[in-house]
Formats: sequence, structure tokens, C-alpha cells
Amino acid sequence: MMANAHETKGPVAPALIIDSGSGGLSIWGHIRRHTPWLPTLYLADFGFYPYGDKSEQEIETRVRHIVEQVCECYPAQLIVVACNTASTVVLDHLRARFQQPVVGVVPAIKTAATHTKKQVIGLLATQGTVRRAYTDELIRDFARHCQVIKVGAPDLVQWGEDWVRGRSPDMARLRGVIQPFLEAEADQVVLGCTHFPLLKPFLYQLAPDINWVDSGEAIARRVAYLLQAQQSEGGEESTSHRAFYSGDKQDSEWERGAMALGFSSAEQIAL
Ligand code: DGL
Repeated sequence: MMANAHETKGPVAPALIIDSGSGGLSIWGHIRRHTPWLPTLYLADFGFYPYGDKSEQEIETRVRHIVEQVCECYPAQLIVVACNTASTVVLDHLRARFQQPVVGVVPAIKTAATHTKKQVIGLLATQGTVRRAYTDELIRDFARHCQVIKVGAPDLVQWGEDWVRGRSPDMARLRGVIQPFLEAEADQVVLGCTHFPLLKPFLYQLAPDINWVDSGEAIARRVAYLLQAQQSEGGEESTSHRAFYSGDKQDSEWERGAMALGFSSAEQIAL
């Protein structure tokens, strides 16, 4: 049947953005700016938080499960794994299982290694990401000419969570975490966990001479590129952004934090 030229376009299907918790919000903000017409579903997987200390097998099984569950109820046209710890493990599995494009985030080692003037770069990430073979490969492929200082910082993940709930990090403890980079005089430090860009203002306050590198902007550009054919006129105002979180406790503080960031709803979901 021929399409009617005056037919109005159907609603734009949302992108699903997932993380173990609030870290992916640092990516979500960039996606919103680059594709303001795109509705989003954000899932904070507090039911399995943190991912940083889980095995690769556990993460793969869990992420596949949550994406399946959410996509069954809320069909998404694109999936963003807004978590380095998960992306370094699950991207191939998700791409084999789902038809939608799957965008992941991996530590921006290449960017840091390209821009360093001192040939000393840092990687601040979860313990899982720091010890992943994928990370070693990135360093081998792009940062052979650099000294790479790797710091696994699980506390920072929680401080990112606290920040979304309105609590600032303890600056003395934060300084302690970044001390190895200051000592080695690194000029570029990769924030290899999506929770960490949430703390960027504090990191710059403590070490303004370091360039704190994250992948949020690049991921958002990739999403915009993949969906460019759909770029619609206007429609921004009615675009909805829904936040969900798993876990057995209601988290009103997080719900309030998510609403303050611009989500139209924030609710618990059983996964
Ligand atoms: N935000 C995640 C990352 O990018 C995971 C943090 C965690 O749950 O340990 O690695």
C-alpha cells in the first residue's frame, strides 16, 4: 500500500541507556544535548550495583537479562551501555543477541595518549576495568609510548552516587585517591568509569593542571550519527525521559535527584 504523504510520523522510539547506577547519567547529559529530540529510558541497576567487583560472567549474564527485560516492556531503538566495566565485557554478546545498534563506552586511553605532552597518563577506573584484558589491549594499541598509571577506585563510584543524592565528596580522601597521578606528574587522566565525570568539578578543583578525559561527548556524537536519519523538526518539548532503577528498596533521594536532572518520571522496576 502506498504511504500517505500527509501521514504524521509516529512517535520516535526511545534509546535505552544503562549503568550499574548513576554513572551513565554523565553520558545521558551529553546525549540529551546532542539529540534533544530523542526520548530516553535510563536504567540504574542498583539491584546488582556495583559492577566493579563482579566477575565477567556475572556481568554478562546480568546485563543481557536486564536489557531483555526492559526492551520487552519498552521497545528501544538503540542501546547504550553507559558503563565501562560492563562495556569491556558485554558489547559483542549484546550485538549478537539484539537487533538494535549497541553503543558502548570504553576508557579513552587513545585520546589521552594522543594529547599527552609528558608521555605520562593515568587511568582512574573500577578495579574490574583496571584489570581487564580489554584495557591492556587499549594500552598496548594506543599508549605504548606512555607511562600509564592505573588506579582502581571503588570509593569514587559511591561518591558519584552520593553526589547525585546531593552529598559532596570528602576532598581530602579524593586527593588521596588521585595522589599517584600527581606524584607521577601525569598531564592526562582517563576517567574510565562513568561515575567519575560526575565528580569532575571536584577533580579540577584539586588538580587543575590535569586534563580529566572522559568519553561522554564521543558517545553522544556516535548516537547522533547512528540516528541522524531520524532527526525530526522540533518535538523537543514533548520528548520524554524516564528513569528506572532496580533493587528492593525505594530510593526517594535518587528519584528526586533524577527528577532534578530533567527526567519526567523516576520509578522502581522489578528485574
Ligand atoms: N559506572 C560504571 C563504569 O563505568 C560501573 C561502576 C560500578 O558499578 O562499579 O565502570
